[in-house]
Amino acid sequence: MALPALGLDSWSLLDIFLFQLLLLLLPPSMTVVGDGQGPIPRVKYHAAFISEVSCLSTDSSSLTPSHHLSTGDGRRALSLFHQKGLQDFDTLLLSGDEGTLYVGVREAILALDIQDPGVPRLKNMIPWPASDRKKSECAFKKKSNETQCFNFIRVLVSFNATHLYACGTFAFSPACTFIELQDSNLLPISEDKVVEGKGQSPFDPAHKHTAVLADGTLYSGTMNNFLGSEPILLRTLGSQPVLKTDIFLQWLQSDASFVASIPSTQVVYFFFEETASEFEFFEKLHTSRVARICKNDMGGEKLLQKKWTTFLKAQLLCAQPGQLPFNVIRHAVLLADNSSNDPHVYAVFTSQWQVVGTRSSAVCAFSLKDIQRVFEGKYKELNKETSRWTTYGFSDISPRPGSCSEGPSSDKALTFMKDHFLMDEPVVGTPLLVKSGVEYTRLVVETAQGVHGHSHLVMYLGTSTGSLHKAVVSGDNSAYLVEEIQLFPAPEPVRNLQLAPTQGAVFAGFSGGIWRIPRANCSVYESCVDCVLARDPHCAWDPESRICRLLPTPIPKSWKQDMQQGNPGWACASGPMGRSRLPQSRPQIIKEVLAVPNSILELPCPHLSALASYHWSHGTATIPDASSAVYRGSLLLLLRDGAWGLYQCWATENDFSYPVVSYWVDSQDQPLALDPELAGIPRERVEAPLTRVGGGAALAAQRSYWPHFLTVTVLLALVLSGALIILLASPLGALRARGKVQGCGTLNSREKAPLSREQCLQPPKECRTSAGDVDIDNNLQGTEVA
Ligand SMILES: *[C@@H]1O[C@H](CO)[C@@H](O)[C@H](O)[C@H]1NC(C)=O
Ligand SMILES: *[C@@H]1O[C@H](CO)[C@@H](O)[C@H](O)[C@H]1NC(C)=O
Ligand SMILES: *[C@@H]1O[C@H](CO)[C@@H](O)[C@H](O)[C@H]1NC(C)=O
Ligand SMILES: *[C@@H]1O[C@H](CO)[C@@H](O)[C@H](O)[C@H]1NC(C)=O
Repeated sequence: MALPALGLDSWSLLDIFLFQLLLLLLPPSMTVVGDGQGPIPRVKYHAAFISEVSCLSTDSSSLTPSHHLSTGDGRRALSLFHQKGLQDFDTLLLSGDEGTLYVGVREAILALDIQDPGVPRLKNMIPWPASDRKKSECAFKKKSNETQCFNFIRVLVSFNATHLYACGTFAFSPACTFIELQDSNLLPISEDKVVEGKGQSPFDPAHKHTAVLADGTLYSGTMNNFLGSEPILLRTLGSQPVLKTDIFLQWLQSDASFVASIPSTQVVYFFFEETASEFEFFEKLHTSRVARICKNDMGGEKLLQKKWTTFLKAQLLCAQPGQLPFNVIRHAVLLADNSSNDPHVYAVFTSQWQVVGTRSSAVCAFSLKDIQRVFEGKYKELNKETSRWTTYGFSDISPRPGSCSEGPSSDKALTFMKDHFLMDEPVVGTPLLVKSGVEYTRLVVETAQGVHGHSHLVMYLGTSTGSLHKAVVSGDNSAYLVEEIQLFPAPEPVRNLQLAPTQGAVFAGFSGGIWRIPRANCSVYESCVDCVLARDPHCAWDPESRICRLLPTPIPKSWKQDMQQGNPGWACASGPMGRSRLPQSRPQIIKEVLAVPNSILELPCPHLSALASYHWSHGTATIPDASSAVYRGSLLLLLRDGAWGLYQCWATENDFSYPVVSYWVDSQDQPLALDPELAGIPRERVEAPLTRVGGGAALAAQRSYWPHFLTVTVLLALVLSGALIILLASPLGALRARGKVQGCGTLNSREKAPLSREQCLQPPKECRTSAGDVDIDNNLQGTEVA
């Protein structure tokens, strides 16, 4: 028989059999690598938060703060402002000097001091509740007095140096007011200053809206009636006449839902979604739009009185070639960057065709030049008889109708504008990021200069389940995700994002408060290799202090970064000779494990990056073989003869491989001679194997011999499966609870998990991380640093 010739006795075969049985009993481990789902975040955190519980006394100037740190991942310890009685942190406004963040919450407006890096400090707060009369009218009209009949702040803009302008839903009866500032403190709102705000704020807090102040004039897009069936684009404030969209001409479909407005020199762009009427389609088809109006529009005299005479709209198309378009726009921003002479609008989209449970989103970039070009092109025209939209070429009217020419337009031009408001061509965007399994709700963008002077587009994307993705767009117009931070313990949408560039932070509002999220925490990357692999434009390796740091200005040229490839091969080679060599793959530290023969050993491997692929090696051989298996990243090892020696977990990312952790596994009974290759590498004794199954000893008590092996094995399998399950219940439980990799908190018994116990001797806050929430092991002691 061939098997004995391999030098295996029946006991080791039985051991292998039982080991394989054990593997069958393990719950399937999940694959980490994304399968056509778009980019996956390289690292994921559950934010820990530091918050200040302020007790507001009657005199709002005397606050008694106390600090409080929540559980979560200490590597992303974020500041949270929240306060009892305050909710719906929906509207954010940054002061010109970036020292104050004004926040519109339900029935109040706050001024937060954000100059210090910690928790935003409440400077002052002014209540602005809907009046009792409006509240009772609202309840009378069958709206909820628990959730709807309040004043939800919807518009908050800086009007001039001394005044803000604010609007709210005011219990389904929109209202607006000026708010005076004194040293960026808000002065109380007097009731007689509150005016009607129809067309500026929606009635219903659930309705979308947008508003922007440009040259002292407010442009707003929202629902103009109680029922939410009459959308409007409105111009108010300032010295120009009040103008609005015409309802009867159906410039906007009755379900138009506005998400953003962006002023430019001559025009204001509005971004919204509505039912498309120009396509013949068997179901209700949503489409995303950009509309524009001219700032110098004065309205018509006889025709189009008090109406826009320059309203035009076009389709926005965000699609991958050959795929259904992402047709529902959720938010849009302009990158305020004057280095480029072709500014772009960045917008997040979802799709109407979502298979239940699998949401997906896309981010597209639209060039302002493309938008302008489409608005200068052909129109569409509705044939009233066939109810079909057809292309209408160019009109011979001069100046071109809808262009921002000075002076009154002719009646002919105005008549033309009444029916020619839809452009023929769509504005086609460039998809930068397409990702399934996530629904983006908001975004903010900025550019960041890397070490080599190139500027990189960075997008912070809020999701409907309360996480924030930091995405970086690489040279070929595709984005990768540097990190994901889960902000809230329970899934709920990110309501708003505000970037404060000089503060180096993003502020995120949600139902219960406001987060301050620093752009990056570079010190989470503990080695040059990890720092370079991360490809975060804000972080680079400082070879002098040997830490990964936030890039200061001016940029130190000696710092290491490789934004193009993210390959530490060159960036992290050290020393004058080092430039010609790859960073050494010799481990920096070896963990020594003394183990009992015939036991099962689990060797963990911290998965620092979700983008890396991991494999194990034994000496020069790759494994697993018959007596080993990789389970959720850890190596399960059946310790038979020849199983001793060097085990290394390798990560390969951006074409670069490096050992994440190295173990020297030695027999307790007869230690091996030291491998001369590994001489000089520091060693760290790890006291005992993590998981031990006393296979051999138990089995030796049984009487059995080779010819009966199969029979006995089957019987044994039956008898022992039960015993084994009980025997393994604890290590298995531990394995199950390990989640992806992490799981300090779930291991409690000494003999079960000395390795893990050692991890748990790390600062306790890291160990309170709940199982399964982190993809990366906190224990970085085994990480190799080049
Ligand atoms: C940044 O990461 C380091 C290392 O994990 C951690 O000690 C520190 O608290 C983190 N800082 C913040 C502000 O999250
Ligand atoms: C809402 O109205 C009901 C019945 O009119 C009343 O019992 C309840 O207290 C009201 N809730 C609030 C928050 O005003
Ligand atoms: C700002 O606007 C308010 C409201 O119109 C006005 O009362 C105030 O005088 C203005 N302040 C300045 C400095 O122009
Ligand atoms: C934008 O341009 C202005 C003046 O032209 C300049 O002062 C400012 O520094 C520029 N900003 C950036 C981010 O380049």
